Amino acid sequence: MKILLASSEAAPYIKTGGLGDVAAALPKALCNTPGTEVCIFLPYYKSIKENPKFQLEYLTNFFIPLSWRSVYAGLFRAQSKEGGPVYYFIDNEYYFYRDNAYGYFDDGERFAFFSKAVLEALMHLDWYPDVIHANDWQTALIPVFLQAFYQNLPAYQSIRTLFTIHNMEYQGKAPDSFVDECLGLPDSWKGTMQFDGCTNLMKAAILTADRVSTVSRTYAYEIQNPYYAHGLHNILQEYSYKLSGVVNGIDTEVFNPATDPLIHANFTKKNAAKQKLANKRYLQDKLGLERRDDVPMVAMITRLVGHKGLDLVQAVMDDLMWDDIQLVVIGTGDQQYEDMFRWHASCHPDKMSANIVFDNQLAHQTYASADIMLMPSKQEPCGLTQLIAMRYGTIPVVRETGGLFDTVPAYNPETQEGRGFTFKTYNAHDMLDAIRRAATLYHDTKAWNTLRGIDMDYDSSWAHSVEEYWQIYRSMVD
Ligand code: GLC
Repeated sequence: MKILLASSEAAPYIKTGGLGDVAAALPKALCNTPGTEVCIFLPYYKSIKENPKFQLEYLTNFFIPLSWRSVYAGLFRAQSKEGGPVYYFIDNEYYFYRDNAYGYFDDGERFAFFSKAVLEALMHLDWYPDVIHANDWQTALIPVFLQAFYQNLPAYQSIRTLFTIHNMEYQGKAPDSFVDECLGLPDSWKGTMQFDGCTNLMKAAILTADRVSTVSRTYAYEIQNPYYAHGLHNILQEYSYKLSGVVNGIDTEVFNPATDPLIHANFTKKNAAKQKLANKRYLQDKLGLERRDDVPMVAMITRLVGHKGLDLVQAVMDDLMWDDIQLVVIGTGDQQYEDMFRWHASCHPDKMSANIVFDNQLAHQTYASADIMLMPSKQEPCGLTQLIAMRYGTIPVVRETGGLFDTVPAYNPETQEGRGFTFKTYNAHDMLDAIRRAATLYHDTKAWNTLRGIDMDYDSSWAHSVEEYWQIYRSMVD
């Protein structure tokens, strides 16, 4: 089967969040099935163009119509590893030669262009996939354009589409005029494109894609509920017959404490107690924390944005600083939270370290060193941090939502089952209680070592989920 995955980011070329990991690791895992051809389409961003590490080959160029515009698109290809997916890049310097991937006034137009160029590129490559797997609002127009402009062409007729929602919060909203003025869609498309007084690209993809998925089973239920759906619950209820939830995996080669070149001391389940301590001492020195073996180190590696549950942390920050713990925060985001963490770190430099940066090596070192990983998210479609944490023997403390609920069952001290500490209600003191339960168990060395072993044994590879994706792909083409 031939699969085309379209995404606005995929590691190692461009990554700003979890989508970047998933859009690289899933195609890589799909390639393990014999008889599969997989390719990934990305915009050719400035950061890719200017990185000498990435040597791309120019293939061709063409012009595509976007309403009244006729726009240049260059097509490039990266050299692929034997048996791995092929990466294609869509070039247009007006749209993509900018300092960041997102955050511009014309993002809607930029990704409308990208989505159309992906479809147009197929006829230039003379390669037609069985399935196009589009991800998030940036590629939500692929199923729309396919139906509106391409599906009458014989070569495009049998292409099916899966649209995956990685986060409901970002839907791709634009003014009403966008449909005609930028997308050039006929009036008959207005009903499909519009929602709640504006153009909504995610809604349009839900209506037009053959199947829709999201990144955990629980999130697939949650988004049919107003609390999580950011307005689209009725739409998702109506189309629930084509909705499924497939939990993400992680690239277990990249995230492997036994071989990870970015961490101070490598380890396996067998020597984790000793080696994690060596990592912890190293990190305490590096970050200027008090050098102590017997204090539970709590970490947060996250974008510092509201839905990550940071208001809960803010509400009990003073209590946390009274407790005998150390806290390491890594991430960037809203200034309010950046300042909050910086301020507490300046008050308690020996027990709190605020690293307001996106630092991959520091993140790996923290996974390897910390005892507890805190993820109190208000919503978490899947979450990869808890999966990586478990693989590095760091016990998650999570709110029971989305992928956190699906991957971190609550620890039961009586049966010693479960993988982490959880709380249900979005409440700061419930979170504090879960952190304290974890910190207490940390001092019970035997029980803690057992729990760490269970977490390190958890299979977070793509093996299971790839099978579920195959089922979805097959259900569309059979
Ligand atoms: C988004 C979600 C996150 C998920 C990731 C990859 O970033 O917020 O929960 O893990 O996409 O699917």
